[in-house]
Amino acid sequence: MKKVITYGTFDILHIGHINILKRAKALGDKLIVGLSSDEFNSKKHKSSLLNYDNRKVVLESIRYVDMVIPETNWEQKILDIQKYNIDIFVMGDDWQGKFDFLKDYCQVIYLSRTDGISTTQIKEEL
Ligand code: CTP
Repeated sequence: MKKVITYGTFDILHIGHINILKRAKALGDKLIVGLSSDEFNSKKHKSSLLNYDNRKVVLESIRYVDMVIPETNWEQKILDIQKYNIDIFVMGDDWQGKFDFLKDYCQVIYLSRTDGISTTQIKEEL
């Protein structure tokens, strides 16, 4: 059983989110998503339109997602990888290289982003 983990805010779900979740799940058997808590978002000076509970229910309803856990700080990734016996850590390539330090713990794969869409862009258009 291969376990995959990825992290993000996943606010105002769009095709870019679905594409990365689908491809992350296809790399293994089980996909865990670390979902940014509202508090962690404020620390990053980021705000989401939908709150954590709302974003969590939406993510859990996606067929590619097996479990959603809260992401509350920058340091938890190593602990999550150990706790859940993660084989592969996946992020979009906007984070290329930023998580290479996790290669001591599991495989690290950056997937290409879907062109032309982001939550920030949707918010701006609204
Ligand atoms: N992602 C993607 N393609 C997009 C947008 C996001 O592959 N067009 C991926 C990101 O690389 C990340 C995950 O989806 O691995 C969650 O990203 P998140 O930051 O929540 O989504 P964005 O739409 O990029 O939001 P924002 O504009 O607020 O950064």
